This record gives sequence, C-alpha cells and structure tokens, in this order.
Amino acid sequence: MNQRRAPLFEALKHHVIQNCAGFHFPGHGGGAGLPRAFPDGREFLRFDLTELPGLDDLHAPAGPIARAQELAAALYGADRTFFLVNGSTAGVQALLLAATAPGEKVLVPRNAHRAVIGGLVLSGADPVYVTPPYDSDWGFCRPPRPADLRAALRAHPGVRTVLLTHPDYYGQAAVDAETAAVLKESGAVFLADEAHGAHLPFHAAMPARALGLGAAAAAQSLHKLGGALTQASLLHLKGTGLSPARVSRALALLQTSSPSYLLMASLDLARRQLAVSGERLFGRAVELAGRLRRGLAALSGVEVFDAGPGRADPTKVPVSTRGLGLSGYRAAAWLRERHAVQVEAAGLEHLLFVVGLGTRAPDVARALSAFRALVREHPASALRSPLSGHRPPVSDLRLPTSDFRPPFWPVPPAQKVLTPRESWFSPARAVPLREASGLVAAETVGLCPPGIPIVFPGEKLTPEVLEYTLEIRAGGAAFQAAEPGLETILAHDG
Ligand SMILES: Cc1ncc(COP(=O)(O)O)c(C=O)c1O
Repeated sequence: MNQRRAPLFEALKHHVIQNCAGFHFPGHGGGAGLPRAFPDGREFLRFDLTELPGLDDLHAPAGPIARAQELAAALYGADRTFFLVNGSTAGVQALLLAATAPGEKVLVPRNAHRAVIGGLVLSGADPVYVTPPYDSDWGFCRPPRPADLRAALRAHPGVRTVLLTHPDYYGQAAVDAETAAVLKESGAVFLADEAHGAHLPFHAAMPARALGLGAAAAAQSLHKLGGALTQASLLHLKGTGLSPARVSRALALLQTSSPSYLLMASLDLARRQLAVSGERLFGRAVELAGRLRRGLAALSGVEVFDAGPGRADPTKVPVSTRGLGLSGYRAAAWLRERHAVQVEAAGLEHLLFVVGLGTRAPDVARALSAFRALVREHPASALRSPLSGHRPPVSDLRLPTSDFRPPFWPVPPAQKVLTPRESWFSPARAVPLREASGLVAAETVGLCPPGIPIVFPGEKLTPEVLEYTLEIRAGGAAFQAAEPGLETILAHDG
C-alpha cells in the first residue's frame, strides 16, 4: 500500500492528458460548454462553500437558492423546481417515495434505469412491468407501445402512477401524442425520468418534453446535456398530481445535508445559459451532430440509427458496426486507442456518440477521420445487415477476436415474484450463477452504461436470462452487481 499514490486522480490525469475527442457525458465536454461566468482554475475552489450567511439552505430555501429554483421553474414551465445534487437518481427516487405507498401498483417499463429500482425499494411500490419491444438489430429497446401501456393499465386498474423514461439513453422519445393520450385517459399520474431531456425545449428538432405531454413531474440531468457539472440535476413539478411538500420531504431524506455550492451554482449558470443562448448553442450542436450522422452514414458498412420523425433527439447518434463485422465494444476500443476518440457507450451491436454543448467541429472531423480508418481496416463484410440468423461465437467483448450477437432478447417478459422492496428485506444467499436457475434474484445486475438492468430484484432467474448473462460474462463484460465478476449472484430460494 503506497500512500504516495493517488490511483483515481492519476487515472483521471492520464485520461485528460490523452486529450480525447469526447462524445460522452458530461455534455460540457471538459468545460468548453460551461457558461463563461463559471470560475476557472483555483478561483473555482473559492466557490466551494457551505450554508454561510446570505447563501441560503437547499433544504429550507428562502434566499438565492429559492430564487434560482424559481427561475429554473419559469424557464421549464414548471410550477415548482428543486435543485438536485445527487443526479436525477435522487429525483426519480423522491418521486416514487412521494407518489406511491408500499404495495401500491406503479407502471414502469422493464428497461427502466437502475435509479427506478432504488425508488421502488425505498417506496415499497409494486411494479407492473411493461416490456418494450427489443430491436435485435440495434441491441436496445424501442419505446413502449401505446397499446401495451393501455393493456397494462386496463389489466391493473389499481395503477395510479406511471413512470416512463423520456427520452431514453439512445435519444428515443418514449412518449408521443398517442401515448400521452393513453396516459391522460387512464387518469394515472405520469412521472417522467427525463434524465436525458434537459435540452429538449431549446431546439425545434427535439421531441416534445415531458411536461408538455402531461407529465406531473420530470427529473432532468443537467449534467448530461444541459451544460452543468456532473450530478447537477433538476426536478420539476407541474399541476396537482403530486404534493410539492411531500416531494420536498422525500428530497430531504435522500439528499446530503452538505450540498455542493459548486453543483448548485452550475445549475444556476446552466439555466441562465440555456435561457439566454440555448437555441443558438443547441442549433450548433444539432448542426454538428447532423454532420457526424451524415459522414458516418456515408461510410460503407456503417449504419446510423433513426428513431423516426418527431421521435429522435438529434444530439444522440447511435451507430451500428455490425456491417464491419465488429462489435461496438471492439470498435470503441479501437477508436480510443488508435485515434483518441471516446464514445459515450458501446454495446454488442452499436456505439453511441453524444454531441453536447462542448463538442466542437474539430472533434467531429476527428471522429469521422477515425471512423474512415476503422472502415478501411475492417471493410464491410458479408455480415452486413440483414444479419438475422448469424451467430458468431462468443469471445472477448472488450477486445474480441471475433464477434458475438445476443442469441435472443436479453430482457424477456418479467416474471416478478417479489417486489424490489420485499426482495431487499428477504434473506438471500450468494449462489453460483450456473446454479441459480429457478431462484429469485435478490439484486440488480446490469451493465453501465446504459444502467438498464438485465436482472431486476424479485424476478425469477430464467434459464434465458442466465444463459445471456453467462455469455456476456464469458466475453469479459464488467457488471454492476454485488459481485462484479458475477461468479455468484444474490438470490432468494424459489
Ligand atoms: C434513463 C436514466 N435515468 C436516470 C439516470 C440517473 O441520472 P443521474 O446520473 O443524473 O443520477 C440515468 C443516468 O444515466 C439515466 O440514463
């Protein structure tokens, strides 16, 4: 144990020195997209303060924090806005705590973010999972179908709350006019996990925002695309669906008693930047994203995802590398190691580029030239889509020698046995993954990004889910799980 080392700081420094063209969160891109007023260098540290006279209190705001929150509410058309210093995670969890009671049914999509599971454990609500269609060409889910939502709402008349992710990690709008009508007709309170949507109001090409589609609340990560520091987020309330006092009390349970003034100031400045220059800045981001999209789509063997008219956030650019005979994992590693281009995420089928306020034209030029080189080294192969039926062998997913396609839908319709909260408080044991079939999961298991669990706590561990998990484990995937190597999984006896 060498106490002169600082492993995390050293790793950060090593990354920063590489000077990557970054297409990932936070969207401010190393500061280029932060508001100019944001203090620089050592001056920044002088703003790391606490509840001193005149600086207000996040948990009982009556001064500048209250006024900053009111300005944010006015910008987003909310009745009330809260600053979050623990990401949208805290917002989503506070919403579930405030809106639901133990045992009460709440409708959530089966591809919800892990923050939702935390909220369900805290509140004790009983999830009704709606399984969205899985797009096996792209390796991610498409938005839940309005007909499936309607059917679930009819089958479970006790559902009074619906939580949807809008837009999702890949930039797809989950809620369109039809879905909004289904939700309205049901009378349920619609809560939006809008972690990826803080920028939607600032460009005409963006999908409609949740508050405009009938949501009673929306949690937004301003650190993702809104120009704030990591963790800085907003929680908006609108209408009478939720009690602001109860949400405020839930946030007091969940958020630190020492909120960072740097994060809160970054929210205030990001809001000002969005209000004053949001349209111009997102105009540039959308233009750059379009340049990237067109440049990539022109390459042989490369496909760029299109969620459809009105459904796509143009700042998200999912790209398929399968036509090159490559997994996204391998392509991402190649781009980083050879050309210092860092994408937001890689999956088996895709890469995800995010174009944020900090993205500049030379970043896009570097990404395109790196991708051209990738295509030269991996010319379009016989694997070019349609690929159905092709099953290359499993190998190392991080740097595989050959590639792998998931043999089936990795998120089969859920077989819920316990609610996440019942699971949390029930006895569990670590079971070798291969022996867990038929048992009930006692933990959340997934890959991050995207933070969408493969296994939800309280669900039956089916042979299909275990087979899929074993395959990607064999490929070297790094899981977020109680035991990250996933030799064992926490389970309840069936
Ligand atoms: C869909 C979704 N919801 C919620 C969250 C949590 O947001 P935060 O990281 O701001 O806590 C994320 C984070 O990636 C997300 O992708």
